[in-house]
Amino acid sequence: MNDDLQKRITEAMANPQNMGEIADADAVGTVGNAGCGDMLRVWVKYKEERGKKVIDRASFQAFGCETAIATASLAMELIRGKTPEEALALSGQELAADLGPLPPTKVHCTSLVENAIRSALAREPEEPKAVAPTPLASSATNLIDSFTKPAQKPGGVRVVLLDKGK
Ligand code: FES
Repeated sequence: MNDDLQKRITEAMANPQNMGEIADADAVGTVGNAGCGDMLRVWVKYKEERGKKVIDRASFQAFGCETAIATASLAMELIRGKTPEEALALSGQELAADLGPLPPTKVHCTSLVENAIRSALAREPEEPKAVAPTPLASSATNLIDSFTKPAQKPGGVRVVLLDKGK
């Protein structure tokens, strides 16, 4: 990793944005990379704006490398105010654009963030969510708890393992 990239990542890591759970999230997605063992969870809260559903807030927790955390920090800000379709159109490298060019060995870190966002946006409840917080939000306090506690009710937590190349 070159010095410029390390400096940009260090700056992003110094003040990461939007870390932690959104207790009343509308959608949650979790992905893991089987190759490096890193995991990322994303929470999304929507709002209505001018007749369109847009992302009001997004947050994350990570067992991940600095690049994944820095990318997630940037990405949560970047997708705010976007429709789900607009957010889905962003690639991992677009989400990490402010970090500058990444070496090939770090591209999968941005894919982890991209896929966690995709997983969350795909997990939107079919019915309007008047009640029923996700089992994750109600029973696990953080990402570590959700993996170390006994299995929750079926469908409560779904971890999507990515192919090693992603
Ligand atoms: Fe696995 Fe960065 S090394 S996500």
